[in-house]
Amino acid sequence: MKYTVKSTALSAVTGNVIVGVFEEGKLSLAAQTLDQLSQGAISQLIRTGDIKGKQGEMVTLRLPNANLERVFVVGCGKQGVLNVRQYKQLIKNTIQAVKATNAEQVYNFLTEVQISDRDLYWNIRFAVESVAESFYQFDHFKSKKSDQHSALQEMVFVVDSAQQTEAETAVQQGQAIGLGVRCAKDVANCPPNVCNPAYLAEQAKKLIEKSPHFKVSVLGEKEMAELGMNAYLAVSQGSQNEAQLSIIEYRNHPNPQAKPIVLVGKGLTFDAGGISLKPAASMDEMKYDMGGAASVYGVMNALAELGLPLNVIGVLAGCENLPDGNAYRPGDILTTMSGLTVEVLNTDAEGRLVLCDTLTYVERFDPELVIDVATLTGACVVALGQHNSGLMSPSDALANQLLSAAKHSADNAWRLPLGEEYQEQLKSRFADFANVGGRDGGAITAGVFLSNFTKKYEWAHLDIAGTAWLQGANKGATGRPVSLLTQFLIDQVK
Ligand code: BES
Ligand code: MN
Ligand code: ZN
Repeated sequence: MKYTVKSTALSAVTGNVIVGVFEEGKLSLAAQTLDQLSQGAISQLIRTGDIKGKQGEMVTLRLPNANLERVFVVGCGKQGVLNVRQYKQLIKNTIQAVKATNAEQVYNFLTEVQISDRDLYWNIRFAVESVAESFYQFDHFKSKKSDQHSALQEMVFVVDSAQQTEAETAVQQGQAIGLGVRCAKDVANCPPNVCNPAYLAEQAKKLIEKSPHFKVSVLGEKEMAELGMNAYLAVSQGSQNEAQLSIIEYRNHPNPQAKPIVLVGKGLTFDAGGISLKPAASMDEMKYDMGGAASVYGVMNALAELGLPLNVIGVLAGCENLPDGNAYRPGDILTTMSGLTVEVLNTDAEGRLVLCDTLTYVERFDPELVIDVATLTGACVVALGQHNSGLMSPSDALANQLLSAAKHSADNAWRLPLGEEYQEQLKSRFADFANVGGRDGGAITAGVFLSNFTKKYEWAHLDIAGTAWLQGANKGATGRPVSLLTQFLIDQVK
């Protein structure tokens, strides 16, 4: 899809246009102009009750006498009260209708629709993200590809000439995020027999073709053993697929010495639970247990597209957790890279073991701050459901920056507490820590476990167990929290 920004009067447009009508039959400015050009075609639609302006309504008109190919008339609800979710849905419905025709280009006049508390930038940015979303499909493994291809090639956002620059920024950033989300979805949806730790590392290495600012290196199990990453290795030892830790360095800060922002993604390409085996129902969904790594990979793609003047290091902690004669056991005591010891009480609490060593490893980059992203706990899904990622951080400043990025990008997150009082639950009779803290506050005790390994830098943890993928009929990766994190990075530049 190509997106352009123009300041064109509707009377000068020939072709396909999208215009809005609001509740109680109020016409948008574009709809008013069109009504005049078409001897009242729009007001007639309202009079006949074909459209009332309610959200979700949609009528397609052909108006040859107004020099137009087609008019997509969209119900936009009450002007100014539309929330982001409703707006995105409205764009998706509209694009669905456009795609069903053979329109190749469409002039979008919904730029005058006001999302509550948002300006034109967000109108366009969310439109671009939503269009990208509605074009997404994952049919690499279908022998018959879906015949969903549409003629649509270009969307023109119509704006006042004074808003040209703002609109172009919105298009550019929306496209970069759309691309990042797509990259994240593609690797996450990929089945675990294909997307194993080596595959993740391959995707990481291919990034160097996308920007001269990238440098990528990969650690295998031999290198990890030399570093003493024994917790990470223990998780991997039941798998035939070698663990791979990919390090994607993006260096484009005007001051090359500037400390990097480090993003760490949990990359369990499959989590069967190990000896503490998971139940069979929905176990297939544990291919998404690399959703954290997928989102970090997506963010790095968006970053390259945006060319932000920052130093950012993305780390994909690829690994597989399986039961096996050589698998690690409940009762094992592991010496982590930090020197701290962990008693394994449940081999299904593997994410924190992979992450604790990775979080120690990234100390060598002398980070400005570290954010880890992980499908870490079922408890987080119980606490927050599917709409908010769980955010934990000892730093109010960092937590607030992330919450603000989450709110702006509509990739929501909710903060959960951390506190030393929760450390009680992680006490072990025989080692420094147990790897599980019981049922109560399970998302928090996982975060608190990690906090013991992040003392050397500012740190935040995002538990995306509920948000990384959808279940049921729409099963699939969501690409979250790519927009949240990319927004956070964009905000770092300002
Ligand atoms: N990857 C899972 C967490 C998960 C479960 C994410 C369901 C999304 C949906 C993680 O490795 C895990 O198994 N966690 C355990 C921890 C428990 C043993 C303390 C869990 O949440 O049950
Ligand atoms: Mn697990
Ligand atoms: Zn897991």
